[in-house]
Amino acid sequence: MPLSSPWDGFLAKIAACASVADLDAIEHELFGRKAGALTTALKQLGGLAEAERKTRGQECNAARVVLTEAVALKREALKCKGMDSLAKDDTLDVTLDLPEKERGHAHLIHEYIRKAEEVFGRMGFDVAEGPELETEKFQFDLLNFPKHHAARDSQDIFYIHGTKDPEDRELLRGHTSTVQIRYMRQAGRKPPFRMICSGKVFRKDADATHSPMFHQIEGLMISKDVTLANMKAVMETAVKNLVDPNVDFRWRTGYFPFVEPGLEMDLRWRGDESKSREGRWLEVVGCGMVHPNVLKNVGIDPKKFQGFAFGFGVERMLMIRHQIPDIRLFFNGDLRFLKQF
Ligand code: PHE
Repeated sequence: MPLSSPWDGFLAKIAACASVADLDAIEHELFGRKAGALTTALKQLGGLAEAERKTRGQECNAARVVLTEAVALKREALKCKGMDSLAKDDTLDVTLDLPEKERGHAHLIHEYIRKAEEVFGRMGFDVAEGPELETEKFQFDLLNFPKHHAARDSQDIFYIHGTKDPEDRELLRGHTSTVQIRYMRQAGRKPPFRMICSGKVFRKDADATHSPMFHQIEGLMISKDVTLANMKAVMETAVKNLVDPNVDFRWRTGYFPFVEPGLEMDLRWRGDESKSREGRWLEVVGCGMVHPNVLKNVGIDPKKFQGFAFGFGVERMLMIRHQIPDIRLFFNGDLRFLKQF
């Protein structure tokens, strides 16, 4: 439809647009809410005499329909043109062999701990935390260690020099059993509960199966009627899920001052390349029924409640799972080892 000037001029401008940005500008010039030419013309109709208002009104409406359509068509055309030139000019050789970007990942110990939290989570265990810097009270006293127990020896434990209280020396925790105490002493905490906690522990030990820093997963389950049979079931479920469904294991009695009775579980090596370990046993968890004195120490009545505690050696579980012969491989940062996991 032929348009009256000035709208005719706009049609020509739209046709001449070379880019979407140009078109946007003209669209704004026409339809902009404040000062668009068409918007202004429509606004001014009100001030005109009736006869003129009618003809001008019709002109404006016709112009609005034609120009809107023209803008839409032009926009489509410009977009297609854009795609054409992209296909022509912007070529990408997807067969080109580029160096792969190296991506890191979490250390296998941390990934494994996350997996363990999931496995125990399915058995109803919450996740708790505790500090690595501890005191003798949490490391030993409240866990029912006699005052002169050999484990307090500074041959085994890293004590902190210049400790504030000589009666309760600071130290790097030698096991995560400290967190049992902290968890049970938390204000408002009442049995029944199930918790696990994981983290670093420190001991003056170093050989193929001992490291001065390693990781443990501690666990605690207390209620009115938890038994040793429940403990064995939980331990067996854990090693089957976390080590190997067909893992060969054995139970032995063990002594820890904070449990009675105490047990240890060994897993059997399948054998490494040198075959030197094949068939041998590795201790991976200490556990037992929580000693009544420990429950008393945290204000739980041992006549009403009972339960079990356990402490897994994380690296040792991984050693059996992946048949890793030396614990030091976890910590020396050799990428040839780390990249395998
Ligand atoms: N804390 C013990 C250790 O480090 C393991 C353990 C935990 C044993 C809980 C019994 C119960 O060897």
